[in-house]
Parts: sequence; structure tokens; C-alpha cells
Amino acid sequence: MTATVITGIAELVTNDEDLEGADHSEHLGLLRNAAVIVKDGLIAWVGPASRAPEADGRRDVGGRAVVPGFVDSHSHLVFAGDRSAEFAARMTGVKYDGGGIVSSVLATRAASDDDLRALVGARIEEMRAQGTTTVEIKSGYGLSVEDEARSLRVAAEFTSETTFLGAHAVPPEYVDRRAEYVALVTGQMLSACAPLARWIDVFCEPRIAHAFTEDEARVVLSAGRDAGLGLRVHGNQLGPGPGVRLAVEMGAASVDHCTFLSEEDIEALVAASDTTVATLLPGAEFSTRSRYPDARRLVDAGVSIALATDCNPGTCYSSSMPFVLALAVREMGLTPAEALRAATVGSAKSLRRNDIGVVRPGNRADLAVLDAPSYLHLSYRPGVPIASALAERGRHGS
Ligand code: NIG
Ligand code: FE
Repeated sequence: MTATVITGIAELVTNDEDLEGADHSEHLGLLRNAAVIVKDGLIAWVGPASRAPEADGRRDVGGRAVVPGFVDSHSHLVFAGDRSAEFAARMTGVKYDGGGIVSSVLATRAASDDDLRALVGARIEEMRAQGTTTVEIKSGYGLSVEDEARSLRVAAEFTSETTFLGAHAVPPEYVDRRAEYVALVTGQMLSACAPLARWIDVFCEPRIAHAFTEDEARVVLSAGRDAGLGLRVHGNQLGPGPGVRLAVEMGAASVDHCTFLSEEDIEALVAASDTTVATLLPGAEFSTRSRYPDARRLVDAGVSIALATDCNPGTCYSSSMPFVLALAVREMGLTPAEALRAATVGSAKSLRRNDIGVVRPGNRADLAVLDAPSYLHLSYRPGVPIASALAERGRHGS
């Protein structure tokens, strides 16, 4: 196979804290005037351009910055329809309570397989155009055995990071039979979906009628674990609650949102920082006009954090990781370097992956190029489409 040398890299962020000769002041393993050699989809060499070995091909990025491709570790891309009217109502003061999930479920059930495939494919292309090279995709707008399995089949065509979210909401036909729905999710639905998923997730928000209590969430996660799935939790999004502590207790890889945290929640996350990542989704706070999680506080306390889009029709219909980075810096107190690490190596950790998020020999050659001389421009130029994926086409976390 041929090797390609990428040259003209004014600034390379590697996230490799052991890289010799790099600037490690912000933990970015940053090299100026760098080159990278890519072979068979993997990184073969990283270093100063002046010392780059010969390769078969050359690609010059013309003095731009190159960063690890973004790892979007939380998305709900398998849905039909949109909820723009719900968004407009929220902007006049209506509060988000998860009730709109049902309308996306009805639209998704009515869509054909081809429609869903085309919708997911277009959203993935949007992500790649903005620098994302790995995406996790949840089911959760089917909420029947057939429709959840179909959602995961479609998701699996685009990524290996698939998540079964049958416990996203209690569907209309089960509103008065919650226990039966939990039994379905942990029984027949799980049997159909486990072979198609790597993870299981649950919307644990006891104050919200459509979502799941601590006990229900524990049952769902235990069944998923028994079926061989890794654990993720939607927790503490709409108010204080048990989600974070449950996620830590069960050794989940990630607890997502973390908007309303108590001191005990933060202490639990600090103690579990090797195991459980707090994934922050500020696009959801932006689009629901909610307060933001205190990311500064979490980082200072020693919590492992990640950033992701949560791209979904209800709380955040944005596929843009650069937008998320800009919010994290402007609204949540992270430095541009901390935000970039959280969106790459941090979110890779939340997926328990060490082959992505760090640019070092042997890792996947998943890179994003910026139409700018420095990674600082990601948050300095919000809303300007400067990032795009540089990896080979057709690979999204497989
Ligand atoms: O992560 N809160 C739960 N799930 C999604 C939103 C779902 C929807 O409203 O369609 C989220 O914010
Ligand atoms: Fe979500």
C-alpha cells in the first residue's frame, strides 16, 4: 500500500503528551511546521516537516492547522421529520420537557428504510464537512422492537459506535403500562437490538413523565450489561437527579448532559474519573435556553470531560462540533485547548477508544484540517466553516 506525506502543516495538534520536541504547555502535543505520514488509513509517522521521510505521495495543506478529527460521542441521527415549531415555541418561553420525542417517534416509524438511510447519510456528511471523523449514533425514535432494531441497522451502516436507546421515552401506547414497557425494552427489544449495538443508554430523569426513574434505569442498564453492552446514561439534564450517581455506581463509560450537578455528583465523578466520563452537550443548553454545565468547575475538580453535539430533532439540531467548542469556551469557561481536548481525546475516552483522538503512529489517520493557521480559530471564528475532515472518505468510526 502507498504512503502519503501530509506537508504544509503550520500547526499540528497531536494530543500526544509524550511526543518529543512538541510544545506540551497546554497538553496538546503541539508541533509547528509539521508533517504526518499516512499509510493504510493509519498514522505511520509524525514529526517536523524538515525530518519527514520519503513517501509515495504528497498532500500539501498550504500552511493550515491540522487537529485530530472530532469524536462526536453523542448523537441521535436516526430520525425523520423536524421540530422547528417546538424550537420556536421554546424561544418564546415554553419549557423543554421531552414531550416532543413522541412526534419524532411517529415520523420515524412512518419513514421507509431508504428515507432513514438518506437522512442519516446527509447528517454524517454535514458532520464530516465540519471536521468530525467518528460519530456515535443512538436509536431511540423507534421505541418498538422492529423500529429500534431498524434504527440500529441503519446506524450500523455508518458507524461501529451504535447505542441502543429503547429507554429514551415511554411510547404513547405504553403510557399507562410503564412496567410493561421496561420489560419489553429489557426483553424482546434488547434481544433484537443487542447484536446491532455496542452500547446501551437510558434517559434517566425521574421528574419527567416520559423519561425513566432511577430504579427503571438500573434495570435497563443491568439487562444491557448482561447482554454484553457497554453503558451510557442521559443524566441530570433537566434538573438534579440520580443519573450521575447511577452511572458511576454501574461503571458506565459516560454520563451525558450533567447540567444540574450536586457536590456529591462532582465528588463521585472525580472518584470515577478513570472509568466514567462526563459528556457535556452545550448545544442542547443553547437550543433549550437552559443554563450551561459548569465545565470549568468540573475540570478544576479533576472530572474527565468530553464534548459532543447531541444532534437530535428536539434539543439540538446542530451537527457542528466547532459550534460546541465555541460554546464550551465562551459559555462554560474552558480554554480553547481544553475544549479541543474534550472534543477529541476526551470523547474518545468516553467511547473507550485509544486508537482515535491522539495523532500518533499506529492510530487511525483521522484528521481535521482548519482553514486557519491555529486551532485557536475554532472558537475565535464561531460560525465560520473552517474545519473539515481530512480522513479517507467512507470511514466513520468503523
Ligand atoms: O439528549 N433528553 C433526551 N434525549 C435527547 C432529546 C430528545 C428529543 O427531544 O427528541 C437529548 O437531549
Ligand atoms: Fe441525547
